[in-house]
Amino acid sequence: MKALYFEQFGGSEVLQYGELPQPKIGKNDVLVKVAYIGLNFADIYRRRGEYHIEKHAPYINGYEGAGVVVEIGADVTKQKVGETVLFVDVPFANAEYVAVPSDQAIQLPAGIDSKLAASIGLQGMTADFLAHDLGKNHPDEKVFITGISGGVGQILSQMLVADGIEVYGSASSAEKRALALSHGVKEVYPSRENAWVETIEGQFATAYDGVGLTLQQSLDLIKHRGKVVFFGMAGGDPIKIDPVALMSESKSLLTGDLWDYLISYDERKTRSERLFSYFTKGQIQISEPTIFSLSEGKQAHEYLETGKSIGKVLLKP
Ligand SMILES: NC(=O)c1ccc[n+]([C@@H]2O[C@H](COP(=O)([O-])OP(=O)(O)OC[C@H]3O[C@@H](n4cnc5c(N)ncnc54)[C@H](OP(=O)(O)O)[C@@H]3O)[C@@H](O)[C@H]2O)c1
Repeated sequence: MKALYFEQFGGSEVLQYGELPQPKIGKNDVLVKVAYIGLNFADIYRRRGEYHIEKHAPYINGYEGAGVVVEIGADVTKQKVGETVLFVDVPFANAEYVAVPSDQAIQLPAGIDSKLAASIGLQGMTADFLAHDLGKNHPDEKVFITGISGGVGQILSQMLVADGIEVYGSASSAEKRALALSHGVKEVYPSRENAWVETIEGQFATAYDGVGLTLQQSLDLIKHRGKVVFFGMAGGDPIKIDPVALMSESKSLLTGDLWDYLISYDERKTRSERLFSYFTKGQIQISEPTIFSLSEGKQAHEYLETGKSIGKVLLKP
């Protein structure tokens, strides 16, 4: 089969495209012929050697994709050959075929095709646990999202708007601001400036922060008894936090990693059904993904690294 792989860590030049052996499935796996692969920032960290990656010679990157089940292991009962499935936490996804443990293969409902599933899977499941497990905001509460037009931000903001919550955020360009406003967001502030922070500080029940560098700003934006939901460092490392300072204003900091919220088939099923229902009801719209062929993986990595992309970047085997 064809795959995108690398033999040493480094820049995009280490990526190679070529023939590798097709994976063999175990008795609890399904073999998926991949239609679309989701490219994520974590894949760039992995390529650079800065993030956990599954041992494999050569390294095959990627954990997210969608496609058709073409073979099932002897003990598989949940999936059938011919079904379309999504996976968001399975290694070696940058390939034509992926061996997916049955518990990690999520069946797609009518109305969600493999292109949409690969565009929203990992970022959408992340938005789901941030909103429903950590944020738990009530209708009419005000929340703030840094990087609101990023992949997670676009889905999270529309999910919260659909849940009746008042959403505000920050973004770096007029185009990104207009996009968020078209999704029902009340106001969007310029993310690379901060004069506006003091005009709205202390007003929000929750600030969702996946930028990292903005953690102090997020703490300033929340009110006493409010919380920051910290989930990533797209803009750089966060400041160190003093728990005594948090206590003196009754502010809390919550964090989470998607892998800890996807620990069983039932959990993946419940979360994905909740996510998909926002899309099938038309409550969330996303930008068209930018699609590169798997053989153009190097260009796709370079494009994502520029930070200019608005929608999802997909690879097509
Ligand atoms: N905890 C988890 O389980 C989990 C799972 C998935 C993703 N994540 C994290 O979630 C975050 C967002 O992921 P994503 O896939 O949505 O990425 P993305 O589409 O690249 O969005 C990241 C956003 O961060 C903003 N940003 C980047 N650099 C910035 C800076 N210097 N200052 C201010 N804003 C900056 C950008 O917005 P502007 O340019 O408009 O400001 C961009 O829209 C990442 O940190 C990622 O690692 C966490």
